[in-house]
Amino acid sequence: MTQVHTEAIGDVLLIEINNPPINAGSLGVRQGLKDAIAQLAAEPTLRAGVIIGAGSTFVAGSDLREFGQPLHEPQLPDVLAAIEGCAKPVVAALHGAALGGGLELALACDARIALAGTVLGLPEVTLGIIPGAGGTQRLPRRTGWVRAIQMVCSGERITADTARDLRLVDEVVATELQANAVALARQLAGKCRISEESVPAEEAAAIEQAEQAALRAGKGRPAVVAAIEALRDAARLPFAEGLARERAVFQQLRGSAEAHALRHQFFAERDAVRLPADVQATPRGVQTVAIIGAGTMGTGIAIAALDAGLSVVLLEQDEAALERGRQRVADYYQGRVAAGKLQANAAAARQARLQPSTDWTQLARADLVIEAVFEDLAVKLDVFRTIDAHARVGAVLATNTSYLDVDAIARATARPQDVLGLHFFSPANVMKLLEVVRGAQTAPDVLATGMAFGKQLRKLPVLCGNAFGFIGNRVYNAYRKQCEFMLEDGAWPEDVDQALQGFGFAMGPFSVADLSGLDIAWRMRKAQAATRDPRERYVAILDHLCELGRLGRKTGAGYYTYADGRQGKTTDATVRGIIEAASAQRGLIRRPLEPAEIQRRALLAMVNEAALLLAEGVAQRASDIDVVLVQGYGFPRWEGGPVFWARQQDRARLEQDLQRLAATSGHGFRLADLTPMLNP
Ligand code: NAI
Repeated sequence: MTQVHTEAIGDVLLIEINNPPINAGSLGVRQGLKDAIAQLAAEPTLRAGVIIGAGSTFVAGSDLREFGQPLHEPQLPDVLAAIEGCAKPVVAALHGAALGGGLELALACDARIALAGTVLGLPEVTLGIIPGAGGTQRLPRRTGWVRAIQMVCSGERITADTARDLRLVDEVVATELQANAVALARQLAGKCRISEESVPAEEAAAIEQAEQAALRAGKGRPAVVAAIEALRDAARLPFAEGLARERAVFQQLRGSAEAHALRHQFFAERDAVRLPADVQATPRGVQTVAIIGAGTMGTGIAIAALDAGLSVVLLEQDEAALERGRQRVADYYQGRVAAGKLQANAAAARQARLQPSTDWTQLARADLVIEAVFEDLAVKLDVFRTIDAHARVGAVLATNTSYLDVDAIARATARPQDVLGLHFFSPANVMKLLEVVRGAQTAPDVLATGMAFGKQLRKLPVLCGNAFGFIGNRVYNAYRKQCEFMLEDGAWPEDVDQALQGFGFAMGPFSVADLSGLDIAWRMRKAQAATRDPRERYVAILDHLCELGRLGRKTGAGYYTYADGRQGKTTDATVRGIIEAASAQRGLIRRPLEPAEIQRRALLAMVNEAALLLAEGVAQRASDIDVVLVQGYGFPRWEGGPVFWARQQDRARLEQDLQRLAATSGHGFRLADLTPMLNP
């Protein structure tokens, strides 16, 4: 079936792109557009053209699968050159989304008209590439540099109204897109090529500032650096030259390892939200959520639900705790308004949907109940008995536990089929990851509700089995444990942190531990002490720090010391003394560890654990593990996640190093079979 359909509407040629679901700019679309432009040029009765998308959107991007392969002719720049070269004007009629190649196509037309609600953007940088069909050359000619740097380097999506303010679209209409576009095409006197305009002058200082901000936010990744260069070319080179340079850089980045990893993450995220066939079901509807516990997590989840348009009942054990929680939510919205991120009336409307209460009968109103009380099984069992007594029949009951057994919690109710885990990450209103935990008896439609609820909150829900630490904390614990071994072997905390930050982690593990507070881990270690195998290699450094009252950032000292909230550059004599004593006690002669060795050991520990939990069925797909680590634990997105990383390594060396890691890690280290994970 042809992907581009043409039809003359009087003297205007309507060119409709039809490549469902998103009208991606495939080979068929490109060839069809080129033929249509030739038709427009050739037929004397036609005076102008309109390019429009069939279905729910204009061109919402390119077919990413094509990106990993050689591109076939005609390529997008050829199509855009044909549009510009055609003597008759062409209007782009936008609705839904005009993203990437879609926006580039629109910018090569002579005018643009958009339906209200359309989103526009150039997200290429988030995929490790830059726009490759004039995006970096045409955009700044309309928006100016500063705005173009912001948009291109962040992949920001803007609305049709903003696009009109930036002169990217000429008209925004509420209805009748096609008729309005045809009318606009008839009004056009002639060609109006953005490529013939020049980039508006702006202050050098403002440009410099925008570039620096973009580099910082983009962590100096190659695509961000290249995008800034290409945008600079727009002003310093003739259009054709700037265009050629942009294309060359696009082609080069397209084949890079980083772009490959980012495409992997893109597909992994898309797959993660899909439930396996055996649990596909229609979700139960969620309008009202009851959240129990108005602490750090409870209030964060409440904000996320309010922002998604839901009604929230926030329950606490006493008035004082409730008031603190209510205040935290109020402070958050006040901050958003003060920062100009939210209108005061919108903030008020969201808070009006919040009902703080200590009256548990209010639970009966909820479609979904989320428990976020202390991480203590006895407390949670008690709370679930109360929930069971008050929640309506058919309500979905969730626990936000980090480590506890979801089945044990479910058994506290008379309806274990309605119970699941919804493991949010802190801050819950910001972090996109949501682990949806499947208990032994969780009903399919309850799981479907958990996944749908995650999407409702614009999060990335990932299905996990009910096992200690689910996916994320389980892999992260293995990684942290390995980092502790390296302290005993000879590294200082700052060596480990710096090496892993050097790999691209947002923070090193010991800085993370200080930030979250060492006491959480300390409490858990004490709880596990009785059942711990005495032959296991157990690093007690953290316990000793806690015994000295060094609980992390909040007490001014943990692995590091903190003055005015700033972390000391190196660890102090006390910590080093504790670490040296630990090495001595294990009979180890300390030796310096190179950053490469630190990185490899930490990554291998993650890879091994990933393979174990895949084999146990805790993760349903290997790529889900990559999503969890990237979205929830600061694993560098451009490395694709631990599984992707492992697949890029030399297999024999990987196995060899893993054997060595097992030997170093001692008793209790379970060596995984990597084959099923690496050869899916
Ligand atoms: P928190 O200590 O900040 O808040 C817990 C709240 O629950 C307190 O306000 C307390 O008054 C309330 N509470 C305790 N018992 C209650 C009861 N019987 N009825 C009603 N309210 C009660 O704790 P946080 O950090 O919010 O953690 C809550 C849960 O979320 C825990 O299970 C934790 O493991 C989990 N979690 C925590 C994360 C974090 O980073 N803090 C991340 C993911 C999960």
